[in-house]
Amino acid sequence: MDPRSLFPDHLRVRLDCLEQALAATGFPALVVSSGVPFTYCADDHEAPFQGVPHFRHYCPLEGPHHVLRLEPGRRPVLALHVPRDFWCEQEPMEDAAFWADLFELREAATPDAVWDLAGRPAGAAYIGDEPGRAEAAGLQPNPASLLSRLDWGRSFKTPYEIGTLEEATALGARGHLASREAFLAGGSEVAIHHAFVQAVDALDHQLAYPSIVALEPKGAILHYRNKRRRGDGKVLLLDCGARVRGYGSDITRTTAAPGCDPRFQSLMGGILELQRTVCAALKPGLPFLQAHQLAHRELCGLLHRSGILKAAPEEALALGLSRPFMPHGLGHFLGLNIHDVAGHSTGPDGALLPPPEQYPSLRLTRTLEPGHVLTVEPGLYFIPMLLQQFREGPYAGRFDWRLIDELSPLGGIRFEDNVVMTGSGIRNITQEYLPS
Ligand code: GLY
Ligand code: MN
Ligand code: MN
Repeated sequence: MDPRSLFPDHLRVRLDCLEQALAATGFPALVVSSGVPFTYCADDHEAPFQGVPHFRHYCPLEGPHHVLRLEPGRRPVLALHVPRDFWCEQEPMEDAAFWADLFELREAATPDAVWDLAGRPAGAAYIGDEPGRAEAAGLQPNPASLLSRLDWGRSFKTPYEIGTLEEATALGARGHLASREAFLAGGSEVAIHHAFVQAVDALDHQLAYPSIVALEPKGAILHYRNKRRRGDGKVLLLDCGARVRGYGSDITRTTAAPGCDPRFQSLMGGILELQRTVCAALKPGLPFLQAHQLAHRELCGLLHRSGILKAAPEEALALGLSRPFMPHGLGHFLGLNIHDVAGHSTGPDGALLPPPEQYPSLRLTRTLEPGHVLTVEPGLYFIPMLLQQFREGPYAGRFDWRLIDELSPLGGIRFEDNVVMTGSGIRNITQEYLPS
């Protein structure tokens, strides 16, 4: 089914959720703007525009300076910015047939006039990146009490959102297959990146996030953004996703070329197995921290079996010896933001459950519920800066440093899938398009 046919239901659910949030916080209405482009210092060029996610949650329209006015019991008003500007092509209203009729459309040529058209409902809240303008209009900008409720609502995806995320996943999978071929043909990081954007038929800034295309040691740099022109790598860590109507996929695959060190390939198999074990444990009612702890328990076993750690798994876990090998969290919510909102919330009122001290990068501490969409992305990296502390520390004897030094030039391993929580477990939407 085309997810776009589900948009009217999505909007109704979102507006119901908003109505409850407004009632709980005492605001009569909400004004949301689509965003202002970032202009580089002392220049007249703009950075590629990314819309305010709260705007995109109600309206799939791309582009800056539009304003939504949402009031219970009233048709949503969309004040459109349609500038009279011959320098640039105006952002066309493409693919609007499935949603435009649901809004009262108004048009104006300047941002000021757009705000005038949207109106200034007395005492209303505002969400967006123009708090000064909102205050001048008598609106309360970005109130935390309302934001926390709407963010909480964003963590439960509607069927329209799940279908759209699946579309983004299918597209991202197509890019991964093309990139893998480019890698196996000896392509450079630049060439592998180009294979991805060509396969998903996108421009760079239309991807879900800046692609991570890492050959060998660069795989150990978790957010490696540079792209080298040297190819013929033995290992590719590719973390790339596509974007559809604002929703992104976030997919990582690690591929070994023929002749890659079999010990490293065996670690890759171990991380895949670990990912399957963790995925099988994901159920509604499970605190995600427990899944993250399970991943570290399994990782300790793998590091021990492979000889990297001499400590037995239980001891290694107690001493935190797997942490330098996987310093990031097991996963995060996925949606309009790649690291989607409300991962630390305990309820709509804004209370938070931060990650424990030993896992500071864990972005998701929620108890899993049906309708959540998240990534599951275990990894194993040889990161010199993190390993150095252990080389010099009291537990240095629990590591096989010679083996670590031999494997370090190959960088790291990550497998990242996107999964939807169902009533009984997960649906792994990435495996459906890109089996690993
Ligand atoms: N692509 C960033 C991440 O996996 O979280
Ligand atoms: Mn991720
Ligand atoms: Mn990723």
